[in-house]
Amino acid sequence: MDDSGFWQRARRHMLGYGGDFVRFVPAHAQGSFLYDAGGRKVLDFTSGQMSAILGHAHPEIVATVRDQAGRLDHLFSSMLSEPVVALAERLAGLAPDLPRAMLLSTGGEANEAAIRLAKLVTGKWEIVGFAQSWHGMTGGAAAATYKAGRRGIGPMLPGNFAIPAPNAYRPRFAGVSWREELDDAFEWLDRTCTGNLAAFIAEPVLSSGGIIDLPVGYLNALAEHCRARGMLLILDEAQTGVGRTGLMFAFERDGVVPDILTLSKTLGAGLPLSAVMTSDAIAAEAEHREFLFYTTHVNDPLPAAVGLKVLEIVQRDGLAERATLMGTRLAAGLRGLQQRYECIGDVRGRGLLMGLEFRSFGGRDAGTISDAVTDVALELGLSANIVRAGASQGVMRIAPPLTVTEEEVDLGVELLGEAVGKAVYR
Ligand SMILES: Cc1ncc(COP(=O)(O)O)c(C=O)c1O
Repeated sequence: MDDSGFWQRARRHMLGYGGDFVRFVPAHAQGSFLYDAGGRKVLDFTSGQMSAILGHAHPEIVATVRDQAGRLDHLFSSMLSEPVVALAERLAGLAPDLPRAMLLSTGGEANEAAIRLAKLVTGKWEIVGFAQSWHGMTGGAAAATYKAGRRGIGPMLPGNFAIPAPNAYRPRFAGVSWREELDDAFEWLDRTCTGNLAAFIAEPVLSSGGIIDLPVGYLNALAEHCRARGMLLILDEAQTGVGRTGLMFAFERDGVVPDILTLSKTLGAGLPLSAVMTSDAIAAEAEHREFLFYTTHVNDPLPAAVGLKVLEIVQRDGLAERATLMGTRLAAGLRGLQQRYECIGDVRGRGLLMGLEFRSFGGRDAGTISDAVTDVALELGLSANIVRAGASQGVMRIAPPLTVTEEEVDLGVELLGEAVGKAVYR
């Protein structure tokens, strides 16, 4: 199909914001597939931007949007409505230690609110994150984001620190355990901070950072370090929340309940909805200190109704369990590719959040290989990477919808294998 006219208009009028645009123009989407106007079909192995956990155009979500938009869409920000309270209540049922919630639109916004909340209730202002983190593009969230976006925009917020996340595949120092590295990092923080450490913000699996899965025990040790310093632990489950890793929340694996939990991407299954959840004690202190995070779309009924339906479907259809089942199948398929192709260095992840890391091969570096494979995969009908050139550092991130079928998992693996063969070995 000739889409040169579309690209001409796009080049003329679109402001770029993150590398090249993908040369595929979806016109509609259904389930795990995207279709362009000419009917070309692409398997969406990234759930859009890691969000569409129910696939695209899920009939119950479509019906919910239609119904709620016609009933009650947006309100004055100090008004509450039934879907909003019902969603907060349902979230509390899933994380009983965090029974208080506010609803926002994006992940960055939720983290912004979480950071502000942590600063207010602790009376301190220093925020620590991982050096491979991604928490959003707004001020406080961006200041705690170290994976990208720190150049050319002047000073970041003062009082932000980063420590390295443990990387089992590429350890920084041979023979040094993650615990030694973590203890050492906190000793360094103690020396460099001004005694105002308010919070640590972490993704349980660092996604943009290259699918770095925090090892079992790490969150517990991190929570202990936070407790010892009167810091709050904020967990950002934008990508890991709502079933993707095989549990409703990734933190459940470790038995560590954060002081503040942020959910976004997956909560709205692709529609803009995020949540900040916290304990009664923190909520009480915040209200006492007149916490302010007043936005246009705070606690809007339309996205709340969607979130409520998403949780209902995920629980009713056992989609977290399904993420484990399909994730096991996907991991086995990817490991099969690893055995077949020397250029694949590592396969890792949890549930349906997987990473495939290339290594230098045949005179090409891992990033070049990853980008080439991504391009060929798309030509073959598979969308399977989201961090484009430069930033990917050779890691493909694969996160199909939780509704993906066995046949679609197998098709994705087959197309990826074909793409590696074509891009690297021919
Ligand atoms: C872990 C994590 N947190 C926060 C964000 C920011 O979310 P948003 O882009 O919705 O602001 C992202 C986005 O990729 C993310 O991966």
